[in-house]
Amino acid sequence: MALLGGKTIILTGAGSSVGRAAAALFRDQGAALVLVDRDRARIPGDDDALVIEADLTAAGACARMVADAEARFGAIDGLANSFGIDPPTARGTLETSEEDFDRILLVNLKAVFLCCRAVLPALRRRGGGAIVNIASQGALLALPGMTAYGVSKAGVLQLTRQIAADHGRENIRANCVCPSGLESPSLDRAAILDAAQLARRTEAMKAMAPLGRVCTPADVARAMLFLLSDLSGFTTGAALPVEGGGTMALRF
Ligand SMILES: NC(=O)c1ccc[n+]([C@@H]2O[C@H](COP(=O)([O-])OP(=O)(O)OC[C@H]3O[C@@H](n4cnc5c(N)ncnc54)[C@H](O)[C@@H]3O)[C@@H](O)[C@H]2O)c1
Repeated sequence: MALLGGKTIILTGAGSSVGRAAAALFRDQGAALVLVDRDRARIPGDDDALVIEADLTAAGACARMVADAEARFGAIDGLANSFGIDPPTARGTLETSEEDFDRILLVNLKAVFLCCRAVLPALRRRGGGAIVNIASQGALLALPGMTAYGVSKAGVLQLTRQIAADHGRENIRANCVCPSGLESPSLDRAAILDAAQLARRTEAMKAMAPLGRVCTPADVARAMLFLLSDLSGFTTGAALPVEGGGTMALRF
């Protein structure tokens, strides 16, 4: 059974490690895809997809994305947001500049809001649909040394719940995936970590999870697939942890 057969999905952050895994999985599951990223070169090749290069911090870009998607495919069934930034210069509260705080909240929270706001009328026209946002394990727990990022992801979770609460009667669902640190660090972190630091990061993340391994982009993509598909038809406003149980148990 193709879980997204007959559905058109807008996938933002399609060039991220999660986005690339999601694009391949959603295509395999029958979706017509609109692949969006600020950096077109990172978007995976797909002859059937509509590819859009856009900086989603601009409301106009989000509106154009939805209009172009409807013009190409007629209707939209889902939005999956998978972009984000994690600048390593922003750390604990005292070490976070105002500029970094504003930039992280702008991209990780306001742009997600703008994408959701732009797509809601289209989902209404369709008679319903699903939104999936990527928050983080750090939306459920504090992330030491990552103040602005943690705040942005807690905001994404609350934004998702607000949408779920306001639009449930329109058959529009909104849910979050909350991953732990991925085996592929964010582009921002990958740029500064050397091999030894990456190995230590991996070992630390393994130790935190009762399942004893690190989260993969495919793990996150599969959770997004579930939340976009009709399999999760009675689930809305949820924060689905994809973290090997790391937020469920204290590890000593
Ligand atoms: N990597 C991790 O360890 C981790 C852990 C938990 C949650 N997450 C979250 O998962 C999602 C994907 O993370 P990742 O590590 O795969 O991402 P990544 O760092 O690999 O890629 C980020 C992508 O976002 C795009 N982007 C950035 N700003 C944009 C903008 N303004 N408009 C449009 N596109 C923009 C970039 O071009 C890039 O393709 C993000 O929301 C991230 O916060 C990541």
